[in-house]
Amino acid sequence: MKYFFSLFVLSVTLWSCKPNSTKVNNSNKINYEELGNNITAQSQGAILTKLSTAIQQKGIESAIIYCNTNISNIMDSLSHVYHCKIRRTSLKLRNTANSPRNDDEVIMLQQLHENYVNHKTTQGRVVERDGKFIYYKPIIVMMNTCLKCHGEPNQEISSNVLKKIQELYPNDQATGFKLNDFRGMWVVEFE
Ligand code: HEC
Repeated sequence: MKYFFSLFVLSVTLWSCKPNSTKVNNSNKINYEELGNNITAQSQGAILTKLSTAIQQKGIESAIIYCNTNISNIMDSLSHVYHCKIRRTSLKLRNTANSPRNDDEVIMLQQLHENYVNHKTTQGRVVERDGKFIYYKPIIVMMNTCLKCHGEPNQEISSNVLKKIQELYPNDQATGFKLNDFRGMWVVEFE
């Protein structure tokens, strides 16, 4: 874990998105795409490491409680580390606090989903809005572990785990996913 964090902090120096490391103009779109891609890969890695540690140490049910209390802090510290606002959103939500913030995000979710289904691509996209750059990247159910909390209720998700999910997230819609399904997207808003 310590090793992971030193790696994590080290990577910040490489992929910081402070304005002084990136010029704000159109020709830099590719740069933002690269930055966004690196930041989301790092963030995904951070979440996965914490999640698997929680599962190993305490089991799936407790890992859900862990997610419930810690994920938003993890996202905040990732945002702090990378000097961007980093979020995850979806059209099939577990936590309504992760809802799309506006119509643009809903449309982007639909487009990335369609693009993934039709062209099998998970490539991210950069959009400029009000002078700020925003990076979007699909999140895919890329491993069986995801299904223990997002798969078929009472099959992949055990009844105990399902009970815990429903207790913490009474409006949960984030079940019934299959391996390689489109799950949602990362949103990285650059400063
Ligand atoms: C231990 C159970 C567990 C596992 C395993 C798990 N998740 Fe989740 N997931 C959750 C919980 C709980 C939340 C709600 C977190 C919160 O409160 O913000 C969540 C939220 C999410 C969200 C944010 C959108 C939303 O619906 O609120 C995405 C995207 C997501 N998970 C994708 C994945 C992917 C992809 C995997 C596999 C790599 C995965 N999850 C594995 C429990 C899990």
